Amino acid sequence: MAAFFVTDARREGKPFLFVVAIIAALGGFLFGYDTGVISGALLFISGDLHASTFEQEAIVGALLIGAAFGAVIAGYLADAISRRWTKVLSGTVYTVAALGCAFSQNPDQLIAARFVLGLSVGTASFVSPMYLAELSPKRIRGGLVSFNQLMIVTGILAAYIVNFGLKGIGADNWRWMLGLGAVPGLMLAAGMTFMPYSPRWLVERGREDDAKQVLRRTHQEQDVDDEVESIKKVAAETGSIRDLLGASVRPMLIVGLGLAIFQQIVGINTIIYYAPTILAFTGSSASSAIGQTVAIGVTNLVFTVIAILLLDRLGRRVFLIAGTVGLTIALVALGAFFASGSLQANASGLALIALVVYIASFAMGLGPVFWLMISEIFPLEIRGPAMAVCTIANWTFNFIVSFTFLTLTSTIGKAATFWLYAVIGVIAILFFYRRVPETSERSLEDIQRDVTGPSRRRRRGRRELRSA
Ligand code: BGC
Repeated sequence: MAAFFVTDARREGKPFLFVVAIIAALGGFLFGYDTGVISGALLFISGDLHASTFEQEAIVGALLIGAAFGAVIAGYLADAISRRWTKVLSGTVYTVAALGCAFSQNPDQLIAARFVLGLSVGTASFVSPMYLAELSPKRIRGGLVSFNQLMIVTGILAAYIVNFGLKGIGADNWRWMLGLGAVPGLMLAAGMTFMPYSPRWLVERGREDDAKQVLRRTHQEQDVDDEVESIKKVAAETGSIRDLLGASVRPMLIVGLGLAIFQQIVGINTIIYYAPTILAFTGSSASSAIGQTVAIGVTNLVFTVIAILLLDRLGRRVFLIAGTVGLTIALVALGAFFASGSLQANASGLALIALVVYIASFAMGLGPVFWLMISEIFPLEIRGPAMAVCTIANWTFNFIVSFTFLTLTSTIGKAATFWLYAVIGVIAILFFYRRVPETSERSLEDIQRDVTGPSRRRRRGRRELRSA
């Protein structure tokens, strides 16, 4: 994997990009570590802190709500203090909050610490892809931005392994599980102080020479002037924050929000948070369910790597659509398994296979493509708030789906729950097919010009007609 990035960054003649990708994408690692760690830690927290069911739900949910707020703040911070310093801040807050979790003495303190942790995770989830997209040459942008998703899934797997390794060390085990997150938090904060500002942010501030200096480290020398000109042109053409609801941006906002919401409502985090529970439904013992969960984490990682290798070569749409078809089929199979007594008796491996196909399909499609596309499709002037709105929607629906899953399985049943997600999968496929544009191999400016051009031309035409 690393070799691939070094090779691609070398082909661009810019190995520095590789260093930027690793440090910047630590934000993704924090996101993934928290997503993966809590299900295991909770088993021990509930006993040690005497947390009620409601308190346990609040411990899990506080992070998701915090993350949605974090994304709100991040949109503002990324513009006001720069993408770079927002990431330093996010790493610092994460470190303090991870230690806060580890030293919590009661459920209330833990809920508060998890909320603060969420602020940091939400901020990082938003600003990491944005920063990476703005630093990468278009030829390798897909791979570089999706490095963030790779770090998310690495974080999830790391958390599964940490949980597995620490579960036997005694009553303080959950403190170590949560507290260990401080290490990547500190690495992010410290590492980002050595990273450059985003060239787009610099151009917006009129610091063109500084932007060129950064671009010389990330782009070919002959592309530097063109890149700055292109950023300036788009910055001059595009309007204010109010344009977020304007006709010219609306089509892309619909695409971004569609991707954000569908990424969650096809049920990904029911699998990530509840894989052991789902496997236990199928009759697996607790310990083999934990082992199989690690297998799911590995699948997620392997297929994310494959997607990253191919997204710039084959395009985003094909992965998005094929991946969503794959996960929809897996959901139908999972539903069929729970609906049929004879499948449960005679084909007990089917549920695990369906889960693996589901994760592999998500990892190659909606997982990386959502985060990548929201960093590509919006005009520079409103990129911050637009990405923030999509990120907020993503965390909000993450919260809603995670908190309705167990209730759904107990009210409408497991089969109907997975079939419900499958129906959503079908709607998602149609939406992606009709609305999502191809963005690979095109500069961010070209994509924006295409998307906003016609409606802007239409508006100009209407104005001319009125004044005539
Ligand atoms: C999603 C997360 C999910 C993860 C799983 C990310 O792209 O935003 O909600 O837990 O992928 O790999």
